[in-house]
Formats: sequence, structure tokens, C-alpha cells
Amino acid sequence: MKEQLEAVRQAALAALANAETGEQLEELRIRFTGKKGELTGLLSRMGKLSPQERPIIGQLANEIRGAIETELKTRKAALEQRELAHRLRRETVDVTLPGKHRQIGRQHPLNIVLDEIKDAFISMGFSIAQGPEVEYDYYNFEALNIPKDHPARDTQDTFYFSPEMLLRSQTSPVQIRVMEQTRPPIRILAPGRVFRIDEVDATHSPIFHQIEGLVVDRGITMAHLKGALELISKKLFGPETQTRIRPDYFPFTEPSAEISITCYKCGGKGCRLCKNEGWIEIGGAGMVNPKVLELCGIDPDIYSGFAFGMGLERLVLGRYGIDDIRLLYENNTKFLEMF
Ligand code: PHE
Repeated sequence: MKEQLEAVRQAALAALANAETGEQLEELRIRFTGKKGELTGLLSRMGKLSPQERPIIGQLANEIRGAIETELKTRKAALEQRELAHRLRRETVDVTLPGKHRQIGRQHPLNIVLDEIKDAFISMGFSIAQGPEVEYDYYNFEALNIPKDHPARDTQDTFYFSPEMLLRSQTSPVQIRVMEQTRPPIRILAPGRVFRIDEVDATHSPIFHQIEGLVVDRGITMAHLKGALELISKKLFGPETQTRIRPDYFPFTEPSAEISITCYKCGGKGCRLCKNEGWIEIGGAGMVNPKVLELCGIDPDIYSGFAFGMGLERLVLGRYGIDDIRLLYENNTKFLEMF
């Protein structure tokens, strides 16, 4: 009996030493010291022992049970300790590792300048108007006092879908669409894409942007036009910038004017950019032709208006000293990151 008990002790302690998990420990506990365990099994046969042997064996059995229980506890604690150490190592966060790099988008230079222009005009009470890029010949030409055989059509090499439909060659058709639907006072700014047949080079693109302005009210004069243009030029190119209007011709304005500002490179002294003129042309303008007002149902005896159209690209290139228009369309991120 004594040897059997010692054998159980050996077996239990050896098995416990090899246990690797909590479940294995629990299995061993049941196997050795559980109600139907090996130790209990042996003790149930104590009745067969002599009265002298019984207390000795009983004591030994208790001692072995104690030893096994102690070992179970120690082993359990060791395993838990090991598991904790594992987990800590697994869950360690190295706060010194570099973070994920996220690329932040930027505004395109065309939009930066456009937004400034919009803000300036909105602060003067203008609202933003829009028209379609696929336009009727009627709005792009006819209603603007440019009939079919008019020589002014030659200056705008237009993409036609059919004799009636085209890609707008200017933003001026938005003037007509607004005047057809709104009664004076009218104060709108209409920026948008326009299209003309052209070879691409450093200064030309078949797709570009114009910003149309239109004001119709009682007593509007050329002075209001000049004032609005002065304000926007100074805002975009600095307070020293001067604005010049000179006679020009557009069928839908009368009188018509060409708008120039003092050269943004030399400040008006004359340089290569302005071809020694000191001035750079930024668009066309004029007083809305009374014929056009009348066609839109606005009485030219009561109302007058001014309109202008500026090329956005020209303004952006000048503002940032960019010498090739293609950079604005190529989506080269190295270029766009500079703004
Ligand atoms: N639409 C004209 C152009 O593209 C510019 C312009 C607009 C002229 C408004 C007068 C008034 O050349």
C-alpha cells in the first residue's frame, strides 16, 4: 500500500511538471485527487488494513494529497504567469513606430483663384449662375446678336454636334439664360468651362474656363463696370494694379471694351511677358446691347447693364508665374503640391 501511494505521488508530480495548460492541470487534478481519482481509489481500500497500519497510511495519504495540491497550485500560478507575460509581449504597442501616411488633397490652382473671384463678387451682392456646356446655337450665338453668317463666328472655332447644337465657345450664353428667367436687378457671376477648336501648346487649350459677369438694373453705366473690374484686379494682383478699358467689338455689347491690367510681372514698366506694353489683356466687356435686352424681354428704355468675360487660365498663370497652361490640366501631383 505504501509503495502504491508513493507510486501515485511520483506519477502525479511528474505529470504535473509536464502540464502545459490549465485544462491539463484540471484533468490531472481529477485523475489523482478527484472523487474517483487514483488516490481516493487507494484510500477506499484502507478498510483492509490492520489498525496499526491504518493511521500511518492515512497520514501518508494526506501528506501526498497535500503535496499534489501544493504542486497543482504552484504549477497553475506558473502557467498563469507565463500566459500573462506572453500576452503583454503580444499586445505591446510601439508608439515610436511611424504612423500610416495619409495624403491630404489640395485645391487646384484654378479653383483657388476662382474661389477668390467668387468671394469678391459675392461680397458685392452677386450670385453664382450656371449654364450647360452642351448648348444651343441659339444661346451661344443667335440670341447674342451673332447671326449665322456673322464674321464674329469665325473668331470662335466652335465644336458643332449639329447645326443647332454645339459645345459652348463662351460663357456669354448664360447671360441670355439668366435674363430670360430673371427680372432686374440682376447681378450674377457665371464661371464655367468653354470649348474652342485649337491646338494644344504652352498658351492654348481647346478646353478652358471663362468667368462671365452680368449686372442689369436702372442707371447702370460703364463706370460701374470699371469699378467692379478695378476691385477684382486689385484683389487678385495687389493694390498697385491698374485696370484699363479700351474700345473693342462684341456683337452683344455696345459699346464694347477690352479689359487689361498692368503687367503682373513688371508692374507696367514693360517686359517680355507683356511684350513691352506694360499691360496684359484679361478679357472682354461692355454695356449689354439694347437689342439683347429687348430679346430677353427687358425694356432697354428703363434698364441698362454691363457684362464681362474673363479668361480664368490667364489670371491663374499670371498670379503664380506659371509659363505653361498644360501644367493646369496634367494632374502632375509634384506641380499641384506646390499650391
Ligand atoms: N464672350 C466674349 C469672349 O469670349 C467676352 C465677353 C463677355 C465680351 C461679356 C463682352 C461681354 O470673347
